[in-house]
Amino acid sequence: MSKLLIRYVCQSCGTSHPKWGGKCTGCDEWNTLLEDVISSQHLTEKKQASKFSAPLEFSSLLSQDAPPERVKTGISEFDRVIGGGLVPGSVLLVGGDPGIGKSTLLLQVAALISQFPGGCAYISGEEGLEQIRLRAKRLGLENYPVLLATETQTQKIISHFKTENPPSFFILDSIQTLYVEGIDAAPGTVTQVRAATHEIIRAAKEHNITVFLIGHVTKEGTLAGPRLLEHMVDTVLYFEGERSHHFRILRTIKNRFGPTNEIGVFDMTDRGLQEVSNPSQLFIGNHEKNISGMSIFAGLEGTRPLLVEIQALVAPTPFGTPRRTTVGWDYGRLCMILAVLEARCGYSFSNRDVYLNVAGGLRIGEPAADLAVACALISAYHNKALPKDAVFLGEVGLSGDIRAVTGEDMRLKEALKLGFLKAFIPYGFSERHKHFKREHLEILEIKTLKDLFMILFKQ
Ligand code: TYD
Ligand code: MG
Repeated sequence: MSKLLIRYVCQSCGTSHPKWGGKCTGCDEWNTLLEDVISSQHLTEKKQASKFSAPLEFSSLLSQDAPPERVKTGISEFDRVIGGGLVPGSVLLVGGDPGIGKSTLLLQVAALISQFPGGCAYISGEEGLEQIRLRAKRLGLENYPVLLATETQTQKIISHFKTENPPSFFILDSIQTLYVEGIDAAPGTVTQVRAATHEIIRAAKEHNITVFLIGHVTKEGTLAGPRLLEHMVDTVLYFEGERSHHFRILRTIKNRFGPTNEIGVFDMTDRGLQEVSNPSQLFIGNHEKNISGMSIFAGLEGTRPLLVEIQALVAPTPFGTPRRTTVGWDYGRLCMILAVLEARCGYSFSNRDVYLNVAGGLRIGEPAADLAVACALISAYHNKALPKDAVFLGEVGLSGDIRAVTGEDMRLKEALKLGFLKAFIPYGFSERHKHFKREHLEILEIKTLKDLFMILFKQ
């Protein structure tokens, strides 16, 4: 006889609990546990099936078939992020905050790939047909042969995969609106999102259809219904950016068919997302001016060098406890650099507020930016501008030493391309970068922060 097994699954992190509780032990969130029902008969049937199933059939690593041809969408920023083009039969998840521009980006992609053999279907569970048509008109895409539908039942969508000539590409907006008939849970819950994704992936692989799933992220920055989804799909892309800025960054978090950490940069205009092919120029702003508290970091996002302006402000604190505020940079890392500056270089920040900002709404996760951050802070501290034609790169160690970073060559080439004349880099690599001298990029090797401040501020 079938017996119902009940467990409680956290809607935020997916941890399963045998008993209900107010707080999830996995992620410490409150009120996120929901009932999930499994039939024990289903489990026994599964066990029996595996007992009698046939033995495995092995094959070799060497493939006789040519690798599947990748399909380029034509948006080169997008193609680079997905590793050079779409792989047939793959499932991609595009996550991002609500309103960041996911539907806009994917409608633009849909229009381009709708011209390829098989065509592209755009299925929305969030917006009505008229709304999508209106957006298409605004983007100037109304004449592309995109197959449009509104649907939220997963089985119905999948049944279309099985028709004689299904579209080669499906865009499902969004995974949180889909539900699987027969599962007793609301759309958007972990149970539904997981079941729908599972069904879709299975059908996509079976029928060799490329599927884009759009997913919203929660305020903590994880995809709602979350890590479970990330490991199921082939590629995870995050669309990020500050709502108040018009730059948007598409970042690869996971890719089974290419490198991760690649970024594509877009500009949100009134006519949709435009590619930004030279983002360095955009993020360094007007570096002609001599302003204190500003440094240029020679960054590297995936395989793409990117120069970024880092801005710092140091001001006397009006309260007992000084404030530290960061935008686009890790708060803990800022505190660590302040501690190093205080303990190793003798600067006191205990009665000063510190604000740190990465220009243009970009988020930097690289420790290689430590040196640029430290220089911006000390430049603000002295109210003395750094050399305006210099870039900085290097990780700061706890002893105040500057450590090597990866991809120096690519970073320096980008600096040279954008007309910078000086680069402050970690010690021990000048031999390797000799050739830059001929091209008028002066390489200055730095051992410790103290040495650097001696050169820059004479103290
Ligand atoms: P949307 O793609 O609907 O976001 P998401 O699907 O991630 O929720 O984008 C919504 C925002 O984009 C909205 O605030 C308006 C803005 N937008 C533009 O600035 N230009 C455009 O051409 C379009 C279509 C939208
Ligand atoms: Mg949307």
